[in-house]
Amino acid sequence: MSQNKWQELEQKLFLRTFSRIPLTLVRGQGARVWDEQGKEYLDFVGGWAVDSLGHCPPMVVEALQKQAKTLIQTSNQFYTIPQIELAQLLIENSCLDRVFFCNSGAEANEGAVKLARRYGKLRLNSAYEIITTYSSFHGRTLAMTAATGQNKFQEPYTPLPDGFVTVEYNNVEAIKRTSTAQTCGVILEPIQGEGGVNVPSNGYLKEVQNWCHEKGILFILDEIQTGVGRTGTLFAYEQYGVEPDIMTLAKGLGSGVPIGAFLAKENCSVFSPGEHGSTFGGNPLVCAAAYATLKYIIDNDIPGKVKRVGKYFMTKLEGLKREFVFITQVRGRGLLIALEFNSEIAEEMVMACLKKGLLVNKVKPTTLRFMPPLIITEKEVDEAVDILENALEEIRNPKL
Ligand SMILES: Cc1ncc(COP(=O)(O)O)c(C=O)c1O
Repeated sequence: MSQNKWQELEQKLFLRTFSRIPLTLVRGQGARVWDEQGKEYLDFVGGWAVDSLGHCPPMVVEALQKQAKTLIQTSNQFYTIPQIELAQLLIENSCLDRVFFCNSGAEANEGAVKLARRYGKLRLNSAYEIITTYSSFHGRTLAMTAATGQNKFQEPYTPLPDGFVTVEYNNVEAIKRTSTAQTCGVILEPIQGEGGVNVPSNGYLKEVQNWCHEKGILFILDEIQTGVGRTGTLFAYEQYGVEPDIMTLAKGLGSGVPIGAFLAKENCSVFSPGEHGSTFGGNPLVCAAAYATLKYIIDNDIPGKVKRVGKYFMTKLEGLKREFVFITQVRGRGLLIALEFNSEIAEEMVMACLKKGLLVNKVKPTTLRFMPPLIITEKEVDEAVDILENALEEIRNPKL
């Protein structure tokens, strides 16, 4: 069946939620994917910051094959070893004490908010409100739509669940002004991903943490996009000298196998049996894949490599900025990077790069975002930058 045939079928069969790019992918290896015609693409979207070790990483494939032959799913009434091994690895390598496994980022944030509300009920005189920020993204469930500070996601679904107050990002005074006796926590992304790769000023997270400590409310970090090596440390909080009370993870944790998690400090691990749960969460198959991913990332200092290659990539992008005056900013950390334009040309850039064999993401009409696998090499960065340069040249000079 041709690419067009699959795409025609998709148009008939699906609810119209995705504006998909006209490309049907059939195979992936490392930082590369192939379409049905065998055309190769360098993948700087990485499954939306999910394919941390690239496509079909051998250590994850092997772990999945072995686990699939052994035990795929039990209920969470029983103990299973891959889940416990993954929990131990996460706890040993973070500042958190306990973990709950689920299946996606939205679900991890839902769980984190439920835990904060439970904490509020038990310890803060039933305080239940969570402060969130504009331009944030926390997921697509109804409550996470309410937590997400972007009108375009909220407006179609109003009225939204109660209990979220939104303030300006990178502004601790706004959080201070908005905190009341009803507040039980603050949820933030260390760097806003879907909002356009917004990097806060250096002291921001620390000041928010200090305020949370002062008020006795919970400091919750959504590390779903920034976690597991993406920004050059295993978790982004390490770079800001803070420790969250609750942290959420998903995306890169499973190298493409759906998994989410929220982790908490002992003092706020207040759930009792039966107060939260999941059928699939933490099943042996996904935990074996996530364990193989995380172990490889830790044992091979992938965050260190991300820091190095990310810097190299940003330096190259700064070079493009000097060459093309319509690039106004290069920003990001590690391998979560954005290129900002002075007009709405991101879509055109995505299509121009696609033609030349590079996949990139339009995060806003004026912004491209790069989230390649964490294992990309400087040579692959060079290849991507050459394609970007050609695409930019075409946009500057449409007659080419
Ligand atoms: C920071 C952040 N939180 C939550 C989510 C939601 O994750 P999921 O799509 O797995 O529900 C995302 C997804 O992009 C995200 O970037």
